[in-house]
Amino acid sequence: MYKVGNIYFIAAVVVIGGALFGFDISSMSAIIATQAYLCQFNQLGHNKSGLCMGPTESVQGGIVAAMPGGSWLGALVSGILSDRFGRKTSIQIGAVIWVVGSVIVCAAVNIPMLVVGRIINGFSVGICSAQVPVYISELAPPSKRGRLVGFQQWAITWGILIMFFICYGSSYIDGKAAFRLPWGLQAIPAILLYIGLLFLPESPRWIAKKDRWDEAKAVLALVHGKGDQNSPWVSREMAEIRDMVEFERANADVSYLELLHPKMLNRTSIGVFTQIWSQLTGMNVMMYYITYVFTMAGLADSNGGNAVLLPSGIQFVINVVMTVPALLWMDRWGRRPTLLAGAFLMCLWLSVNAGLFATYSRPARPGEFPSKSESMTISGPAAKAVIASTYLFVASFAPTWGPVSWTYPPELYPLRLRGKAVALSTSANWAFNFALAYFVPPAFVNITWKTYVLFAVFCAAMFVHVYFVFPETANKPLEEVQEIFDDSKPGAIKFLGTPAWKTRNTRHLVLQQERNEVSSEERVGIPGQEIKGTTSA
Ligand code: BGC
Repeated sequence: MYKVGNIYFIAAVVVIGGALFGFDISSMSAIIATQAYLCQFNQLGHNKSGLCMGPTESVQGGIVAAMPGGSWLGALVSGILSDRFGRKTSIQIGAVIWVVGSVIVCAAVNIPMLVVGRIINGFSVGICSAQVPVYISELAPPSKRGRLVGFQQWAITWGILIMFFICYGSSYIDGKAAFRLPWGLQAIPAILLYIGLLFLPESPRWIAKKDRWDEAKAVLALVHGKGDQNSPWVSREMAEIRDMVEFERANADVSYLELLHPKMLNRTSIGVFTQIWSQLTGMNVMMYYITYVFTMAGLADSNGGNAVLLPSGIQFVINVVMTVPALLWMDRWGRRPTLLAGAFLMCLWLSVNAGLFATYSRPARPGEFPSKSESMTISGPAAKAVIASTYLFVASFAPTWGPVSWTYPPELYPLRLRGKAVALSTSANWAFNFALAYFVPPAFVNITWKTYVLFAVFCAAMFVHVYFVFPETANKPLEEVQEIFDDSKPGAIKFLGTPAWKTRNTRHLVLQQERNEVSSEERVGIPGQEIKGTTSA
């Protein structure tokens, strides 16, 4: 079958997998505020004004958490699928499963059915969210890898935005179509993803690992050599892949357990913590429960209308727009500075919100708001400041931890482990996503504004962790990143390799090499041998 070689086109198709992830995130946040939903899944009866109160907080937490729970499992399983059937095929399997889940949630008549549908949808999102970054990073040229994998995050933010506004529009429909329509429509992009993938090549690195060398070369030529199998870039990439595959065959103990080997443990923990920290920023408090936050800040109307949805929608627009700078410049910025800046800024905005609620809010009266999680209320200029600082928080996550949490993990591992290691780190995203989805509503009930303090402390902790432990990987070919972790080099630390704070973003070198001017030995950027003018993180 005809295959497309344009890397931007390839990324654009495959990141539809990311959009599915986004759909699931916002389909809940717009819908939990609607009467159609609250009445269909009602457990708490009616309030004084006769409005349905919906499920209990813990059941609501469970409904939200069903998706990340399924994704956790899907991400873990995806490593095995991806190594056995290929990166591309595993994403196609994810697309089929998504359609099944969407049919079930669309038809849900009770809470168990809704939960089962969301677990199935989640399973699909787990597979796609882990394997799309692996697939793209194995096809992308080093100088554009951050941007291209970052498209996954952009697709997530678009998915969140599109679904939110579909739900917002549907919330004006009287009756159950208010949630059935959006939950049914979400099947369409998965069908497009499946069909689109038929026209894309498989990852050349995965093909090479299966000893299909001619095919691997043909894919490299298609994507990087304008069809010319003898182009210098294709020959060099082919040689690097061949060396790595042979080296790995000779030296590796190729099992999941290798991720825990002392020489690999550092890398495993960095990848896993990239995803854990991205969740512990508290971004999903804003994504899932923004309507709670804005209701507390006085944006809801008292008759059960949906006034709170529009200002909530603005944060999803900010999320999309503010991801763009990362797509343009993240390979230039490097991974370390981006993560450090993000952690610092988010810590700041969370502290501002904690301070404002602590100083200016009063506890909500019983029955004042539909949900008990709306445990405080704040008004006047302080409420406006809460809204502003919430938007600024989103604007800080979007260009930093959002995209880098997907770009960085696949860069850390050798080929033989990449599928499984990224599966593991992505599953950590989902495990924490699950925990937060479940625990944030009761946290607002029980520790009110201190919920913000908790996340601010996490942001401070991740800043320190990144500074001391996370090395720079931007602009290095995937095979060369392994050199950073080689602990036999002069100046390296046992089991850790080169100290993270001494690693450099050697962008100009890779650009030169892509123009065929520099050899790979010069490009590695080993401390003590840095070439002048490199950017320090
Ligand atoms: C995170 C999600 C989050 C989304 C928001 C992703 O990188 O993994 O949990 O909801 O960004 O844009």
